[in-house]
Amino acid sequence: MKILVLGSGGRESALSWKLSQSVHAEKVYVAPGNAGTVQWAENADVDPMNFAQVKEFVLEKGIGMLVVGPEDPLVAGIHDYFLADPNFRDLAIIGPCRQGARLEGSKEYAKAFMERAGIPTAAYAVFGKEQIGQAKAFLKGLKPPYVLKADGLAAGKGVLIEPGYAQACASLEAMLEGKFGPASSRVVIEEYLEGIELSVFVLTDGKSYLILPEAKDYKKAGEGDTGPNTGGMGSVSPVPFARGEFMDKVEERIVKPTLARLQAERIPYTGFLFVGLMNVKGDPYVIEYNVRMGDPETESVFPRIESDLVELFQAVHAGRLHEEKLSISPLTAASVMLVSGGYPGSYKKGFPVETGSGEDGSLLFHAGTALDAEGRVLTAGGRVMAVTALGEDLESACARAYARVAQVAFEGMRFRKDIGKDLLGKGVCE
Ligand code: AMP
Ligand code: GLY
Repeated sequence: MKILVLGSGGRESALSWKLSQSVHAEKVYVAPGNAGTVQWAENADVDPMNFAQVKEFVLEKGIGMLVVGPEDPLVAGIHDYFLADPNFRDLAIIGPCRQGARLEGSKEYAKAFMERAGIPTAAYAVFGKEQIGQAKAFLKGLKPPYVLKADGLAAGKGVLIEPGYAQACASLEAMLEGKFGPASSRVVIEEYLEGIELSVFVLTDGKSYLILPEAKDYKKAGEGDTGPNTGGMGSVSPVPFARGEFMDKVEERIVKPTLARLQAERIPYTGFLFVGLMNVKGDPYVIEYNVRMGDPETESVFPRIESDLVELFQAVHAGRLHEEKLSISPLTAASVMLVSGGYPGSYKKGFPVETGSGEDGSLLFHAGTALDAEGRVLTAGGRVMAVTALGEDLESACARAYARVAQVAFEGMRFRKDIGKDLLGKGVCE
């Protein structure tokens, strides 16, 4: 089978790496890919948002499986686009249709869906520009800090958490005035949840599901969770508190009711459902749904999956995921993101990257990289690459990952030195 993965980040590097190991993978293409994906796949000069171009490539190469990495093509309806053409009935598409993708595309829709499904989440209300007075009154009734979310997609930047009421009102006004463009023409205001975050991943054919290894994402730029939010500075899997009773609650209170509600509302859903949740004193609350895998969680989740990913995806397409079993490595994975100096603010690109030997079994998942005419790897984005290592426990996984990080160099390179550290001490694991 020939497989096309859409996207170019660390997530797509890890997905294409895992897919390329399958006995069923005749060839893997990544569109557009990066300087690292060429090690196990062929990069294709195709824009994931140009559906006609994707279609042409699928036809030309005889692609049998289309794996959609990022959310934008899903929210824009790439799955529906192929479904509308009977010639593509056999194409296995991993990622939901537009209707299901609204769970990520609109936070207002997602919150209303959770309400209908009885899923635990923060109390909230939604306001448009004409309701600024009511919005401020609603804010006043909440305890600080104040959580403001742009309704639409804002490249992961649309959530503001303000410590004081006056600042929250100012940010609310700025959002409704277009701080995030049309994405913040409506704003979700919600209760602040205090707890530890966790990313839970579900692979589903719409009826049955498999819960993939969970992960913790380190979102803040600086050590000790300080500084601005980023796309993610590292991840670890598994997460010590995510087992036993807590995961039973996640499955019973969140995963099952979400899938049951999708079915009840006749929303077909195939692919990944990523539940971002908060562990509030042992109880899970949904912070957000995403309709794709997480980045950089994928870089620590997929190295732990032993099952053949192409087989799992084929089962998703055929609606027989209930026949599949997931085999998960007991090892711990730690992934450290190496970023350009200045990220998540402005940064320079085009610096040569020294990647080291890699004889230690660690994995380099490129994200923002490109090859120059001589085949040298250059930085080409804010998050440049994720270094992943496996170990018997979190301590050894982190030590191995950081040993490999020490071999990588590019001008301005920065990374968090404390990935996994918070989970090593006692007290974090409930
Ligand atoms: P989101 O884009 O919805 O994942 O939000 C970005 C980040 O804001 C999350 O990863 C959390 O760290 C934080 N956040 C979002 N909603 C809440 C909430 N209700 N309470 C506390 N923190 C939140
Ligand atoms: N790591 C969070 C995300 O992918 O949205």
